Formats: sequence, C-alpha cells, structure tokens
Amino acid sequence: MPRKLFVTTALPYANAAFHIGHMMEYIQADTWVRAQRMLGAEVNFVCADDAHGAPIMIAAEKAGLTPQQFVGKIAAGRAQYLEGFGIAFDNWHSTDGPENHRLAQDIYLALRDQGLIETRTIEQFYDPEKGMFLPDRFIKGECPKCGALDQYGDNCENCGAVYAPTDLKNPRSALSGATPVLKTSEHFFFKLSDPRCVAFLEQWTQDGKLQPEVANKVREWFSRDEAGKSGLSDWDISRDAPYFGIQIPDAPGKYFYVWLDAPIGYLASLQNLFAKRAQDGSDGAAACAAYLADPDLEQVHFIGKDIVTFHTLFWPATLHFSGRKVPTAIHVHGFLTVHNEKMSKSRGTGINPLTYLELGLNPEWLRYYIAAKLNSRVEDIDFNPEDFIARVNSDLVGKYINIASRAAGFLAKRFGGHLSADLGVEGRLLLDGLRAQRLGVEELYAGREFGKAVRETMLLADRVNEYVDLHKPWELAKQAGGDDAGAAAKRAALHDVCSVCIEAFRLLTIYLKPILPALAVQVEAFLQVEPMQFADAERALGHHRIADYQHLMQRVDAAKLEALLAPPEPVAAPAVAPGGEEIADEIGIADFSKIDLRIARIVNAETVEGSTKLLRLTLDVGEARTRNVFSGIRSAYAPEQLIGKLTMMVANLAPRKMKFGLSEGMVLAASHADDKAQPGIFVLEPGPGAQPGMRVR
Ligand code: MSP
Ligand code: ZN
Repeated sequence: MPRKLFVTTALPYANAAFHIGHMMEYIQADTWVRAQRMLGAEVNFVCADDAHGAPIMIAAEKAGLTPQQFVGKIAAGRAQYLEGFGIAFDNWHSTDGPENHRLAQDIYLALRDQGLIETRTIEQFYDPEKGMFLPDRFIKGECPKCGALDQYGDNCENCGAVYAPTDLKNPRSALSGATPVLKTSEHFFFKLSDPRCVAFLEQWTQDGKLQPEVANKVREWFSRDEAGKSGLSDWDISRDAPYFGIQIPDAPGKYFYVWLDAPIGYLASLQNLFAKRAQDGSDGAAACAAYLADPDLEQVHFIGKDIVTFHTLFWPATLHFSGRKVPTAIHVHGFLTVHNEKMSKSRGTGINPLTYLELGLNPEWLRYYIAAKLNSRVEDIDFNPEDFIARVNSDLVGKYINIASRAAGFLAKRFGGHLSADLGVEGRLLLDGLRAQRLGVEELYAGREFGKAVRETMLLADRVNEYVDLHKPWELAKQAGGDDAGAAAKRAALHDVCSVCIEAFRLLTIYLKPILPALAVQVEAFLQVEPMQFADAERALGHHRIADYQHLMQRVDAAKLEALLAPPEPVAAPAVAPGGEEIADEIGIADFSKIDLRIARIVNAETVEGSTKLLRLTLDVGEARTRNVFSGIRSAYAPEQLIGKLTMMVANLAPRKMKFGLSEGMVLAASHADDKAQPGIFVLEPGPGAQPGMRVR
C-alpha cells in the first residue's frame, strides 16, 4: 500500500517577503515530498499565509491599507519565489480564508465542550490614545535592571533581562507614544494544566516520534514542582478588539490569538485544496475531514526550531481534544545563517532569494547546496559563498554533469545516439554497484539525511569517473577510425563505455532528482524517458536512442555570487508609506545599474525668464563640456545658494527639449509626496571629497 501523506511547512507571517531562511524550509520539505512521490506515496503538500495578529494589523494601518489588502499584497508576491525555486506545493491559502474561520470556531467549541476553556480577568497595558491593548513588543521603556533606554516590553537587548511589560520604567506605547495605562479584560484560556492535557502531552511528546533533541527540550517543560504539579501553564488564546483575527463564538469583541488559528490553517489550506478538486462544487469540508481521519494517513509538519512549543504542545492538544487525529511527525530544522549571521525574522539579511533569481543564478544550485548541508537533526547551517562555489562547481558539475557531457558527444557523432545493450563486464559491475545503493539512498531521503544522500551519490559519481579515466573513451575514439578488426573492437568498446556512462548518469540523476527536479526534467528529455521514479533504477535502458546533448548546467560565476551578497536587502514590500508614498515596486540590481548617477558640480545657476518653477543649472560632470539642466527647485533655492555646490544627477537620462532649451539630465532632490503637508525641496549633496564625474552606485 502506498504511503498516504499530508505534509506542510510552517505558515509564514504575511508581513514580509520571503527570506532565504524560508526558502531553506521549503527546499527541505519539497525535497522530502518529491522523494516520497518518487517512491509512490500519495502526498498532499500545502502551505498558506499566516495572516492574523496585531503586528500585521498595525503594519497594514501604517501602509494605509486594510489588513485584508495588506496580506493580499504579500500573498500576490509568493508565487515568484515558489516557482522560482521549484517548490511544488499543491495549494497555497490564507489563514484568513473562510475555511479557517469555520474550522477554528468549530475546534474551539469542541474544546469548550470538553471543559478545557476557562475565562479569567487579567490586567494588561492599554494605549488610551490608540484605544487598544498593547502586545509586549509594542511597549517600550527603560530596562528595570540596567536602565537601558528604549527597550521592548519583554526583554532587554542591552543586559538580557527578561521581565513583564509592567516592570519597565517610564513605559510608553510604541504606536502612539502615549503612556500606557493598566486595564483589566476578560481573557480565554486553554487549560493545558488540566491533568488530561498533561497526561496526553507527556505521552505524545515522549513516545519516540519527535527528534531526540526536541523530545528532551520538551521534557523540560513538563518538569513538576515538589507538589507534583506539572510545569505546563494554561494558554491565553484570546485577544481584544481591535484585532485582525477570527472572532470567538459567543464572545463579542474577542478574537483568537493568532497562534490558535495559525496551525488550524494547515487543515484549512487542505480543505481549500479539496474544494478546488471537488467536481460537485462542494466546500471540501466533509471529504477533507474524512481524509484527515483516515488511520493510514500520516500528517507531517516541517518547522523551524523557534516554533516547537506551538507544534509539540498547543497543536497536538488542540487537535486531540477537539476529537481529531494528531500529527504523525514534527520535523524540526535549525536556522540558515549567512556568514554565520542570524537572519532577522521579518527582513532577510545577506541573501535575497529574488535577487538570486534575477541575477540568473540557477535555483537548483541553491537547492543542491542546502540539501548537501541538511541532516535530520536540529542544526543550523551556514551559507558560505566559497563553499557554495566549490560544491556546485567541483561536485555537482565537475563530478556528475560531466559524466554525461563526456559520453554524449561520441554517442551522437559515432552511433546516431543509439546505446549499446552489452556494456561489458566492468560496465555491468559498475552499474550493479550503483543500483545496489538505491535502497540506501531512498532511506536517506526518507530519514531527511539529504547531506548523506548527496555524499553517497557523489561517491558513486567518483566511481563512474574512475571508470571513464580507466577506459579513456577519447583514446578509444582515436583508434576506432579504421576498418580493420582492431578498429572495430575499439569502436565497440567506445560504444560500450559511453553507454555505461549514460546509464550511470541516469541512475545518478534518479538519486538526485528530489533535489534537482528541473534538471531531472532536462535529463529525461535528453534520455528520452518518462518521468523517473526510484524503481526505474532497477531496469536498464538497453537498446535505446537518446537525444542530442544540450548543455545541462553551468558552473557558478563567482562575480554573480558576489553581486548577490553585496547589496543590502531591499525593503520588504509593501512598506509603510514613508514620505507620503509607498516604496515603489521592487527592482533588481540590474534595473538599478541602468541608471547612471554621477556627481556634478553646479558651476552656474540662474533663474529662467518666463518660469516661476525652474532654475537653469550649468553642471560639470567631469566631461570635456558642461551640461545644461533645468530643475524645478526655484521655490526652494536662490541661484547663489547653489553655485559651487556638489550634487548628484542622472547622467544618462535622454535629453529633453523644453520651451527654454535642452535639458541634459536631472538633478536629484528629495521632497514629501504632499508638498502642502510637508513643504520643501532638498537638493542632494554628496559627502566631502566627492569629485565631479564619480559614479554613484
Ligand atoms: N507564522 C509562524 C508560523 C505559523 S505555523 C502554523 C512563523 N512564521 S515565520 O515567517 O516567522 O517563519 C516561518 C518558518 O520559517 C518557521 O518554521 C521558521 O522557523 C522558519 N524560519 C525563519 N527563519 C529561518 C531561518 N533563518 N532559517 C530556517 N528557517 C527559518 O513563525
Ligand atoms: Zn537591561
């Protein structure tokens, strides 16, 4: 019976574009799913945007958008990343979809029926100006321990102290600047301290399904005090309006805390997929529920190490006590760092995945590199450019791709693309050796030991290359020209050796296919075979004709990789509206470099007869001649203020004929979008030492 798998990755917050850390999680899960599919499993692989919560609500307000519009914008940007890196989710949805509202409310009511929901009155900081309760991270003040200014409500970045927001000295709201006041409110709690929950979770987390290091960590949370009381405390699952979230039934003005409905979003996205597939226009709810309840179904979540509590305590308890099946596995990975620097959550550092694609770097290099570093443990991995280049160029291209390119030419030229079925004793031995590793490679994929799978496969590639070096097809080719018996034998040998190479290349491609799906498609076209499964390693191509060899993969161009690492991250979209307008659509470095910005000296400035807006500037841009530029800055500058100053100009803007003469460029100046609200025009000036003609980049 094929395995039935429901697989998810964590649902990313819909407040920013993806960073390279997100891509790592998707690459890990996607590789695993592809391997399972190649083994015949039936997989539903879904994800969604995590749309709710105070930070998103506040970010939307700052951007002048409704929360729905705001998360809609983020959602619209997802596909280019996922398609770009070959992440084959079956569905992408949102936790703000109708399925999730319904499911979250149903699940809550079931928990309430179990007697596991309790209300309690708590006291919390409230922003009287904004009229809302403040999450800890929106309260700032002085650290109660070291006195550092401007610290968040939960911990001090200066001395590391952990405290409650009420401990802060001189607290203020980060939203309005107002002094927060303490206000009481009724909150809803999920009674995790209930003996039923404790017993269930102790069993569920310690029965061997979790990675050992995760199980150990979780065990600490259960530690009992002297009275034998478990360390699990009840979980506050409600937030007061205004909040962007799902309403709690029978509780006007109360919403589910985002982390209550976020994992339910896994089920909602799956249900949405079922609805899309339904022929009868149904909402998919019944079919999805039946599918999820199937005892043979394995429910697998891939997540990062920072969200283990939610997935090993809250989530299984939520499912179990609402009468649902619990997850089969939670696969936790570590973090990706770049140059050993931690990535900020909302704003990636180091590498922007879109820039990577725009620079024309092959997405499968990154998949390969990340896979080569991944294992089944919760370990951080570092992106290191030198290491990246070495692994791609010497291993992936040098060892593996080269096998095909070394053999394909001879086969096309001398044998019309036909493979030999004989292969010779050594060839057959070599191929048998490669096939013998199939089960091992399958197991490594199933156990998320991708790094080992890559290493094993590269060792096999080494063997193939040794075989090629031993049999030297290039020399056989030289001796295979004549029509004597000796030449005929060399010719047959050449045919065999090249055919062995192609067959070996096919096997290696199968072993790497979960990591390199796009390359595998190219190889399948080259070999003229159907999409390859693991089981296809068992049979041989035999008499078979292959297509002409097209170059399959380039080596990494170090300069491009440098360009990737050099520029700072562009601001994640959609940004707040600084200066009265939204940050323009994202561009790549290539777009930017089209604009030739230069330092210019204002040699002369004068008013323009017949214009109240313009000044005529004479600019020295380090060329043999000066340039004439009209600039709409008269309202802000008298000509004599500008003469002799340095500024910046767009030097390659097409010249424009104006009523007053030709304008040969544009001077850079800052202004607010609404010049009535914030008047002023500010011509840019470079720092001291800049010379006319220097490029600005
Ligand atoms: N919205 C929550 C998850 C809800 S799941 C029901 C969240 N979102 S997130 O956008 O902050 O993170 C999404 C996933 O990316 C998490 O699994 C997180 O661990 C992972 N990563 C975030 N930074 C990462 C790295 N630097 N490296 C690898 N994974 C990273 O948490
Ligand atoms: Zn401090």
